[in-house]
Amino acid sequence: MKHFLDVSDYSPAEIQDILDLAIRLKQEYFAGGNKPLFKGKVLALIFQKPSLRTRVSFDMAMRHMGGDALYLSPNEIGLGKREAIADISRVLSGYVQAIMARVFEHQHVVELAKWSSIPVINGLSDYSHPCQAMADAQTIIEKFGAMKGLNVTYVGDGNNVAVSLMHIVTMLGGNFTIANPEGYGMPQAAQAIGAKLAQASGAKISYLSDPHQAVKNAHVIYTDTWTSMGQEEETAKREVVFPPYQVNAKLVSEADKDVIVMHCLPAHRNHELTDEVADGPHSAIFPQAHNRLHAQKAILARLFEVA
Ligand code: CP
Ligand code: NVA
Repeated sequence: MKHFLDVSDYSPAEIQDILDLAIRLKQEYFAGGNKPLFKGKVLALIFQKPSLRTRVSFDMAMRHMGGDALYLSPNEIGLGKREAIADISRVLSGYVQAIMARVFEHQHVVELAKWSSIPVINGLSDYSHPCQAMADAQTIIEKFGAMKGLNVTYVGDGNNVAVSLMHIVTMLGGNFTIANPEGYGMPQAAQAIGAKLAQASGAKISYLSDPHQAVKNAHVIYTDTWTSMGQEEETAKREVVFPPYQVNAKLVSEADKDVIVMHCLPAHRNHELTDEVADGPHSAIFPQAHNRLHAQKAILARLFEVA
């Protein structure tokens, strides 16, 4: 059974193939609509946390392709609380054709996959956000033609989004730089995977603390919220540490002249990203959000083995 828990579970060729398919499905969608390749298929959407993009883009991806989606809120499912994850997974396997889950603990999506006889997709955990990374890579490739040789700089918290971004960028031959405050770097395990992926592709990874040094020659500047879902009690502390890592017009002016600015959203405007940049000429945040739809169609098509 193939699942989609992390981009690093796939080979660079497999990821490139899914990205190529995403670009093709996007063209088909805008040229009159997608073929109903998901007819008869239902995707269960398990959410332990709030969502706009992930929820709506997966639902619409299924509908555009002739399938359907079923939203299961935290109150209904009670993952591991009302019912054991192993039992939820085996029950759903008899009702629907795939599961997407947004969880707090990464281990919970791993556990769902372990017991499931249908594909399980990680829709964000505390460790990674692989569906976001696919849309991010698609956006970068659409803008620059290919990932290889680009300089992608992430400024801010070494969180789930940063981990998946580092893995997809380096596996496709892009150089990845992160600038984060001390104590807010990426987990060691994610760094170790990144090192292997970079070695295989010939990419370079740089871990810095100075955002100004990090954005020099950057083709992409990426940022995300300073406080992720589940870390709310740290908000006040983080609001003190992170302001030097704000992506503002000054920082953007220090990068490559054709730099694009990305953010997975939701953004906390004028905290990690200023309005001026979010709504300015370098911003790619809305095309990036829209690519979730197309990238996820491609992921689903490969998991369903229909395209
Ligand atoms: N980027 C992202 O995953 O957004 P949502 O939390 O709204 O799904
Ligand atoms: N890092 C953020 C991403 C939200 C899509 C979080 O985990 O809350």
